[in-house]
Amino acid sequence: MNKMPNAPITSGPPNSNHPLRDEIVGVDRQVPLLDGSWAPYINLDNAASTPPFRRVREKVDEAMEVYASIHRGAGFKSLLSTHLYDKARQVVADFVGADQATQCVIFVKNATEAINKLANRFPFQPGDLVLTSMMEHHSNDLPWRARCKVLYAGLLPDGSLDVDDLTTKLRQNAGKIKLVAITGASNVTGTMPPIYEIAELAHQYGARILVDCAQLLPHRPIDMGPSDSPRHLDFIAFSAHKVYAPFGSGGLIGPKDFFEEQAPDYVGGGTVEIVTLDEVQWTQAPERDEAGSPNVIGAVALAAALQQLNEAGMDALVEHEKALTREALELLQDIPGVRLFGPTDPNRLDDRLGVIPFELVGMPHAKLAAIMSYEGGIGLRNGCFCAHPYVLHLLNVSNDEYLSYRARVLDHDRSHLPGFVRASFGCYNTLEEVHQLADTLKRVSSGEVQGDYLPDRGSGSYYPRGFEMQQMDAFFTF
Ligand code: ALA
Repeated sequence: MNKMPNAPITSGPPNSNHPLRDEIVGVDRQVPLLDGSWAPYINLDNAASTPPFRRVREKVDEAMEVYASIHRGAGFKSLLSTHLYDKARQVVADFVGADQATQCVIFVKNATEAINKLANRFPFQPGDLVLTSMMEHHSNDLPWRARCKVLYAGLLPDGSLDVDDLTTKLRQNAGKIKLVAITGASNVTGTMPPIYEIAELAHQYGARILVDCAQLLPHRPIDMGPSDSPRHLDFIAFSAHKVYAPFGSGGLIGPKDFFEEQAPDYVGGGTVEIVTLDEVQWTQAPERDEAGSPNVIGAVALAAALQQLNEAGMDALVEHEKALTREALELLQDIPGVRLFGPTDPNRLDDRLGVIPFELVGMPHAKLAAIMSYEGGIGLRNGCFCAHPYVLHLLNVSNDEYLSYRARVLDHDRSHLPGFVRASFGCYNTLEEVHQLADTLKRVSSGEVQGDYLPDRGSGSYYPRGFEMQQMDAFFTF
């Protein structure tokens, strides 16, 4: 249906927006629409992954020129690569207020790996508990379930954390709860639990705290604080692909002595001081927890992105994101048939990010997301966002409904899965893009849909009848 010559790599109209927009690789890249026209891609799926900053690409290119094995190589490039890797660690530590004298930055591949590592490394004893919440991403839930009994702090009706319930559970299980593992911001609703207040409560009741900063890091300043402050964060975890640096890195930061007390969970080259056939002496943190050749380029990319955010100023980014979120909440609530989930007050923006879940009542979420893409060039995500318990709660799914979904999924039919659509903003999105989101949604809500969308049973996605995707090769070939 769509005739495609060569895919143009042109820019769309100039936007009035945050200066960082010009720093985004691929911004305004044109994509094909169902009617055969082209439009600049509007990426509103930043909660999943962000596009890279130009500076990240440049620094990666620069680092490639001098890249060589690190730590054990004697050549100049090896020394330089080791230096870059160490510098990157310092940039990351500074960005979140960590002091490398007592805390260590362990480079991992993403937040999921970071949390799994902490779960593997935490010295749980029989009877120990972890307290997390009902709003967590599976990556801050399943690793704990694998290690011990997990308690879940409840939610308020708007989907935000019930801090009273969390406090009660901490008090009732004081001494048994060894760790509070809480998100810094929900990837589903953007709601931000009060992490420093929770840190104080956790410490008061004898627990440590891990904050899953995967969503928070690109959006708000984070300060782990000195370990003698009751409000300090013991551990944080994050991914670089959500911070404009998609080169396969992430971080786990925590007390050095914690990681030096036990053997690493993943062992091999780089983790040892000396090995004989009878004994192993582990090296110090963080190298003890970075088995194998590390991802130097990923570390450089992450550091370059954090420097870019620093220079832009996190406060300015926060204000920009609030303006986008306010506008979106106001516009979307006015569209007939649109229902928002999570906190919806456009004037209450201090404790939420620009992550907005919604549905068009009566339309499957996957179909709505497909229409927004094929007919508006707008990239959204739909489904359950790797947070099934939270989404089922927000949708008020009954146990009988759940059992029927479950039976279908186990029969490889994902076409009826519950869920909604999510728009999530990055520092480079514009008010114009927010208006385009609302305008397209308004058209869909009033029945102005061109295509005939059919579900794919196995994936649950919808595709417009007759739309051919052969043009993918015009964008990229190996
Ligand atoms: N779990 C990530 C998201 O929220 C990928 O989209």
